[in-house]
Amino acid sequence: MRIVYEPCQMQKIASKYRAWGKTIGFIPTMGYLHEGHISLIKQAKKDNDVVFVSIFVNPTQFAPNEDLDKYPRDIKRDEEMLTKEGVDFLFYPTVENMYSDNFQTYVTVDNLTKVLEGASRPTHFRGVTTVVNKLFNITKPNKAYFGKKDAQQLIVIKRMVEDLNIDVEIIGMPIVREKDGLAMSSRNKYLNEKERKDAICLYKSLQKAKELIDNGIKDTQAVKKEMENVINAYSIPKIDYININSLTTLKELEEIKKGDTLISLAVFVGKTRLIDNLWI
Ligand code: PAJ
Repeated sequence: MRIVYEPCQMQKIASKYRAWGKTIGFIPTMGYLHEGHISLIKQAKKDNDVVFVSIFVNPTQFAPNEDLDKYPRDIKRDEEMLTKEGVDFLFYPTVENMYSDNFQTYVTVDNLTKVLEGASRPTHFRGVTTVVNKLFNITKPNKAYFGKKDAQQLIVIKRMVEDLNIDVEIIGMPIVREKDGLAMSSRNKYLNEKERKDAICLYKSLQKAKELIDNGIKDTQAVKKEMENVINAYSIPKIDYININSLTTLKELEEIKKGDTLISLAVFVGKTRLIDNLWI
């Protein structure tokens, strides 16, 4: 695997592959890789001639009070994992290479970013859409892979690609979970033993929601109440939000609509904020 640090060098390599008629699959990440990231890479390997992965802890998507400085990093381990998966190029830029002192251009998606994660983290998605746009311009992918774990991120990026006529196909991939159901996340590293046990409450509450819906319950208030009860039975977790929205508009739903419902939640387990969701 070759590691590329400079955006202009990565761009040249991408242009060459495109000129040769090769298809490029791209997976943007912030590193500290786990099986969730690897599942995206495996799919990209199947679908494309070459696979590019980026590792960049993007400062513009973190608010000043968030965990930018302590976000977990282990580039040696990440490199080994990527090599093992047969990734062709790792794009690993510095912050200075991505954001010059004179940087002043941002991409914003309007309504979809005002709810859910966007309501709790008002500057987050502007950072995500801006960096993903830059990364698309740098790696020139035919297909780019995103996890449903970050459901709103996937929906927002699909909107951006359609609205701005970006020539890339966005592929959404299922959530990969630990054996007990906890969604894999680089931030799980922050959890101590007791918190790790209680973190299962997110998945348990989603399972409860699924059970209710399978039994014909349509009222979203009733589903949310039951999910709250599941979480409140644990000692540490504090709910940030539980929401049930349309998958297309992200507007809140009064009734579950099969095929167009996203149940999502954010919960503080100790100081760590975890998210999870279920696509109905
Ligand atoms: P990061 O959190 O590293 O995630 C990179 C990709 O892996 C995202 O598309 C995310 O949804 C996916 N992913 C994470 N955990 C997953 C899991 N358990 N199962 C399946 N997929 C999972 O998301 C980001 O980085 C950044 O916002 C980024 C898009 C790179 C922009 O900076």
